[in-house]
Amino acid sequence: MTPVLTDAQLSKFHTDGFVVLPKFASEEACLALRERAMHLAKEYVPSPEQATIFTADSNAKHAADEYFLSSGDKIRCFFEKDAFDANGTLRDEAHLCLNKLGHAMHDLDPQFSAFSHTEKLGALAEQIGMSSPRLLQSMYIFKQPRIGGEVNCHTDHTFLWTDPQSVVGFWFAIDDATTENGCMWALPGGHNIPVKSRSRVNADRSASYMEVFDDSPYPTEGLVPLEAERGTLVLLNGTLPHLSGPNTSDKPRHAYTIHAIDAQAHYPADNWLQRPNLVMSGFND
Ligand code: FE2
Repeated sequence: MTPVLTDAQLSKFHTDGFVVLPKFASEEACLALRERAMHLAKEYVPSPEQATIFTADSNAKHAADEYFLSSGDKIRCFFEKDAFDANGTLRDEAHLCLNKLGHAMHDLDPQFSAFSHTEKLGALAEQIGMSSPRLLQSMYIFKQPRIGGEVNCHTDHTFLWTDPQSVVGFWFAIDDATTENGCMWALPGGHNIPVKSRSRVNADRSASYMEVFDDSPYPTEGLVPLEAERGTLVLLNGTLPHLSGPNTSDKPRHAYTIHAIDAQAHYPADNWLQRPNLVMSGFND
């Protein structure tokens, strides 16, 4: 198989825990995916009345948990928390208030599937040492102008646990991502720090909780911004601490992510994400 990464890029991925690959996807493919995401957002977005149930009363937390925890094999819409005013009313048209679509875009939508299943991605996964990569999860992240929220420093292994660790993040810039509109930041070499927590669900899957191994925060000194032009792919080791800031600008920062795991690794039943109605595909399927 033709290598996708140069030797320098491959060694950077192993040393830093991430590598930034400009122009991995074409402008045309990104714009088509963007248009499709906007279409799906309008199609799947809950009505403003339904949306408010997630913020309005004491049952809201439970309803929101259930909606999230059962989204592993569906296309669902998730709102920005700053999309609601003090009365719990959406500030804008509902589809423009979304934080993301998730979590099985790559399985359920033909256009997302085509973007996610390519020989180039398969070759890349093989080159970084995934023996049997399987597409576990996908998300389309809007990071809307002014309301796009921050994502705190975390590792993907915390949320998509496998034994041994195998998750790799494939993060595509669908819009240009800059420090102004909330690009990602990562800690070079931070993938060598032991992961500090693991998210699990309780026995009846009604809520998730965090099992903490080390309650000290990940270091923030040394974090570097990963500014990325449209079409850039950022590859992230699952144990790499990373975050993204809020979008305080007037420019959207759309991104698409796929998380892949190795089929050889054990995937626990108490991970939040389960896919009872879907089988995991490989990149070349
Ligand atoms: Fe992440």
